[in-house]
Amino acid sequence: MGSGYYLITGGTGYLGSALIRHASRRGISVVATFHSRLPPTQTEVRWRPLDLRDPAAIHTLITELQPAVVIHTAFRQYEPDLMAITGDGAGHVAAAAAQIGARLIHLSSDVIFDGEKSSAYTESDPPSPITDYGSAKARAEALVQAAHPTAVIVRTSLIYGFDPIDRHSAFALAVARGERSEKLFRDELRCPVFVDDLAVALLDLAQSDYRGVINFAGAETLSRYEWGRLLAQAYGLDPDRIAGALSAESPVRRPRNCALDTSLARRLGYRLRGVREVLQALGRLHIS
Ligand SMILES: NC(=O)c1ccc[n+]([C@@H]2O[C@H](COP(=O)([O-])OP(=O)(O)OC[C@H]3O[C@@H](n4cnc5c(N)ncnc54)[C@H](OP(=O)(O)O)[C@@H]3O)[C@@H](O)[C@H]2O)c1
Repeated sequence: MGSGYYLITGGTGYLGSALIRHASRRGISVVATFHSRLPPTQTEVRWRPLDLRDPAAIHTLITELQPAVVIHTAFRQYEPDLMAITGDGAGHVAAAAAQIGARLIHLSSDVIFDGEKSSAYTESDPPSPITDYGSAKARAEALVQAAHPTAVIVRTSLIYGFDPIDRHSAFALAVARGERSEKLFRDELRCPVFVDDLAVALLDLAQSDYRGVINFAGAETLSRYEWGRLLAQAYGLDPDRIAGALSAESPVRRPRNCALDTSLARRLGYRLRGVREVLQALGRLHIS
């Protein structure tokens, strides 16, 4: 296999699928991995199974393929094997990528933070996780930095899109339709990022020589409650059907303010729009 290939781990995932779509528009050859879901039968992508719990398999795959770029999106958010898959697995991907001299883009998350900062988190803020998932992603960052010093660690926020719809938006719309009874938090701040904006930015980043941490999140900071209301409006549903709650009402501690400062990304020319701007551009929201 030639050296121009991109290896996208988690090709069956939400972001992985968008990366494949955009890479194929750019004529980039992709090998993508799947784990439990059978991949779609796309002719332009070669699919390989991968289990991040198997370090030898990770090394064999990457050594055999010799990709020029690895974009590591695969992960697991919950147990079982959360740390092995999301934390240690990322470290093995990084070590194998470093060994063959491949550029590595590793996807991290805003929930590596405790959410107690009063302003947005910058690239120099150190991880301070308070959830098991946040701890696994923080460990992944540390292992990636140690194994692959020129890797890029992309910290992102809630990823959404409409074709197909993402799980966060689907959840909020189910609440707005009265199909679910959960409340949405008024004090959990996030910077939702449109999946196509993120995929385009990641592919541009892969072609740059940037190294280190960078925040790639949407330009607008919103609470989950505000975001749910906007989505409801965008789908012609009554936003008042969405009930708000405070994070403290949750039985488990959750990071509240995970807003990411994206001024560096903007200075470097990346375009990561805020939710209102995206909804307006898609003709789904007619507000100022
Ligand atoms: N979605 C968000 O809102 C969000 C927010 C912040 C950061 N992120 C980060 O963005 C990245 C992509 O998220 P996403 O929502 O697109 O993910 P996703 O849709 O949940 O997809 C996860 C991918 O990981 C694969 N996977 C799961 N267990 C695996 C294992 N043991 N070995 C190998 N692959 C395995 C899955 O394969 P199968 O489906 O085939 O099993 C799937 O392709 C993740 O790194 C995540 O931490 C996401």
